[in-house]
Amino acid sequence: KKHAENLLHARGKFSGRIGYVLAVAGSAVGLGNIWRFPYLAAKYGGGMFLLVYLILMVTFGYVMIVSETALGRMTKKSPVGAFHKFGKSLPFHLGGWINAVIPMMIVPYYSVIGGWVLKYLFEYIRGNANLVAQDGYFNSFITSSMEVEIWFLIFAALVFIVILAGVKNGVERVSKVMMPLLILLAACVAVYSITRPGAVEGIKYFLIPNLENFSWMTVVAAMGQMFYSLSIAMGILYTYGSYIGKDVDIEKSTTQVEIFDTGVALLAGLMIIPAVFAFSGGDMETLQAGPALTFITLPKVFASMGVGTIVGIAFFLMFLFAALTSAISLLETSVSTLNDELHWSRGKCCLLMVVVMLVIGTASSFGYGIWDSVKILGMQFLDFFDFLTNSVMMPIAALATCILILKVVGFKRMDAEIEQSSDFKRKKLYHFFLKYLASACVIIILLSSIANVLG
Ligand code: PHE
Repeated sequence: KKHAENLLHARGKFSGRIGYVLAVAGSAVGLGNIWRFPYLAAKYGGGMFLLVYLILMVTFGYVMIVSETALGRMTKKSPVGAFHKFGKSLPFHLGGWINAVIPMMIVPYYSVIGGWVLKYLFEYIRGNANLVAQDGYFNSFITSSMEVEIWFLIFAALVFIVILAGVKNGVERVSKVMMPLLILLAACVAVYSITRPGAVEGIKYFLIPNLENFSWMTVVAAMGQMFYSLSIAMGILYTYGSYIGKDVDIEKSTTQVEIFDTGVALLAGLMIIPAVFAFSGGDMETLQAGPALTFITLPKVFASMGVGTIVGIAFFLMFLFAALTSAISLLETSVSTLNDELHWSRGKCCLLMVVVMLVIGTASSFGYGIWDSVKILGMQFLDFFDFLTNSVMMPIAALATCILILKVVGFKRMDAEIEQSSDFKRKKLYHFFLKYLASACVIIILLSSIANVLG
């Protein structure tokens, strides 16, 4: 107990709004933008997906970032503690914990993808730019099981080392240089991609909404991606909010984080989707490649540049940093929640996370290889954990936050918290979306995910 109190007093502070925006952007920009967004956009209707995503982001996403950050700052606690502060009964317990458990379930399979990034970086360093661009290369890697597992273990070890050795700040400092470079390089590659012969079809597919491509799965996928990419509905922003002072303008910083995060996702989409049309003739199979898309398509783009090795090394190195900072923020939140709430030592909390990582991560690594006959609800392990967290648990976590505000905290206290440092121009919209859209959306999403599983 004493320890927890000490921790609470030691709760750090970001240096003003810029520090906060950079920290949240560091957590937000990661695999979600470069690996997950392009493959979902390609799979679930291109421009239609993009449109739904953008609408959800400026409405529901905005509401969620503002709410979670404000609740974190109001209570100075992580999600479990924040829910507790407003009530001690079971629903409050569950509401807090569902937020807190999600990062613990994401970080293992996130590290498996992080391992893929490491593997590609390694191959580029060895000068295999042409080899990795060959058809079937990714498939032979992903089905190898042991190799996937080893790269996963290396990535996971890196994340643990950074956290245990206390060099987190060092990594974040490096990534502040890497991130702008990543954006710059991504912009160059995007320009290259969209100017290839045949790419126009891909640009159209990605940017122009076509009603024929609409399905409820588009909405479900876009919603899950919005949560994932902006790091919302998983307790993270409660924790970050608890670190900011009363002077930080939550409304303004939310807008900046959203622009930043979406900008990187758009660039990644432009790098990859038009390239599917230019280099693979826009065939349906590649468009539907799912989690493999980024890893199949980018090497083809790099190889065609003639300077594939250099670009590949640079790109995958920066990509690795983006993935690392996000994985660190996922693991750090998991450990500190366990530490705060169970009053275990940090070492013991890390040990528990090692076990969770090994179990879920190994299942995800082997799921495409030796365990590919084992399916849950028709999905491989990695796809299943991704689906479970994004399409089922996050909507429930978001709903819990909405209910907490609507039923317990009330708009008055929320407004007062936000207005301390912002003129809160979008107050009416905030109330509107929180009251109607949020709950309605969440229920629709849940129903359609369930329907999707049953059908
Ligand atoms: N938003 C990160 C991404 O897009 C993933 C993440 C989620 C990181 C939650 C930290 C916390 O990759």
